[in-house]
Amino acid sequence: MKPHPIQNACGDVGKLANRLIHGDCIEVMQSLPTGSMDFILTDPPYLVKYQSRDGRSIMNDDNDRWLLPAFEEMHRVLKDNSFCISFYGWHKVDRFMDAWKRVGFRPVGHFTFIKHYASSQSFTQFAHENAYLLIKGNPDRPQKAPRDVMPWGKYTGNKLHPTQKPVEPLGALIEAYTVPGALVLDPFSGSASTAVAARSKGRAFFAIEKDPAYYGIAKKRLFADA
Ligand SMILES: C[S@@+](CC[C@H](N)C(=O)[O-])C[C@H]1O[C@@H](n2cnc3c(N)ncnc32)[C@H](O)[C@@H]1O
Repeated sequence: MKPHPIQNACGDVGKLANRLIHGDCIEVMQSLPTGSMDFILTDPPYLVKYQSRDGRSIMNDDNDRWLLPAFEEMHRVLKDNSFCISFYGWHKVDRFMDAWKRVGFRPVGHFTFIKHYASSQSFTQFAHENAYLLIKGNPDRPQKAPRDVMPWGKYTGNKLHPTQKPVEPLGALIEAYTVPGALVLDPFSGSASTAVAARSKGRAFFAIEKDPAYYGIAKKRLFADA
């Protein structure tokens, strides 16, 4: 297979800090050294053919071909005895759980984020989000374990991305499961909310986004003042 163009640059782990890469996360992660990431916080496609009210869609939300290889690479590049937190499409929790377990992750916690508004309505009003806490190996328990129910924070208005996550709860998770200076990976970065949260907590980020439109938005958001 042809190496990804960043392959050489990524030989040195120090060079991985605060990078935003435009590309397919599976290919990009294949170019990363094993055990090079301290923590993963990610919000992958939900496998529901998502369409926002204003007609925006998400790349790869209509298929699960990426699911196993992407989590296989996430497990490989994550340091031993470390944490990965993944949002997921609740309709397809079986597919996500199957992939996580097959690659070697163990679920050890489940977060519920309470919204003060409903993002849509069907048989219920949708007023929460969920994410699983997964482990590779046997990490130490955090000094102060966070509650597994927390506020979602302010509605972002989804101005930068149709499923834009608020920075506050992401920051709380990063703070709980990493130490200052840690390198946080988000392979499905969207508008770079995880990277912004990592930076706000004094951690470094490595973010990957495939859609050129969202990569452009993320680049502006992260580096506009640089
Ligand atoms: C649910 S969204 C993430 C939104 C993000 N949390 C935010 O706050 O903006 C998932 C993102 O993964 C991207 N994506 C889908 N397949 C990908 C792939 N193979 N490699 C990299 N990014 C991908 C999509 O373009 C989309 O922006």
